[in-house]
Amino acid sequence: MVKKNCCVFISGNGTNLNALIKNSRSYIFPINIKLIISNRKNARGLDLAKKFSIPYKIINMKKNLFENELMKEILYRKISIICLAGFMKILSDKFIKNFNGKILNIHPSLLPKYKGLNTFEKIIKNKETLTGCTVHYVNKNLDGGKILLKKSFEIFKKDDINKLKSKTQKLEHQAFSEAIINLYRMN
Ligand code: GRF
Repeated sequence: MVKKNCCVFISGNGTNLNALIKNSRSYIFPINIKLIISNRKNARGLDLAKKFSIPYKIINMKKNLFENELMKEILYRKISIICLAGFMKILSDKFIKNFNGKILNIHPSLLPKYKGLNTFEKIIKNKETLTGCTVHYVNKNLDGGKILLKKSFEIFKKDDINKLKSKTQKLEHQAFSEAIINLYRMN
């Protein structure tokens, strides 16, 4: 199997990155992670890049410069799929257009519900009984691209924000990889 070269963008802990790295080590997983980009120099997820000897780049500049730098790296590494795994910066319409259909994001709610930030707070406030995560394509609308996969779980009365977060993340770690497998199975 010829694997696609993937770049993962992070800003934080990188638990989703960790799951992707682990799964990508299987020869039947359709992608290889060739590059990790962080817009924050202290992102804990960068430790994984070092641990697994994956090339990484910290790009911490204003949008235009940031994306120029990004493009250079992506072209150099022949990247054909980008996974946003907790990447907290909004990409420009131009960048998204350039990589149309090649950027995936994971979001901690059942989209189209609860786009944007503070998802768990909103879910609890609205007394939802079901939540989960969504893997979707990125387009110019925030958390609004075509949905590839959702995974859900029931919310119990005793579940607080931390509990929701940990249950959601557990599902996310399966969902991102599953969505990628499905994507290339169809292609
Ligand atoms: C995840 O919950 C993801 O849904 C959101 O940011 C979080 C990143 O977590 N977009 P991690 O850095 O992968 O641990």
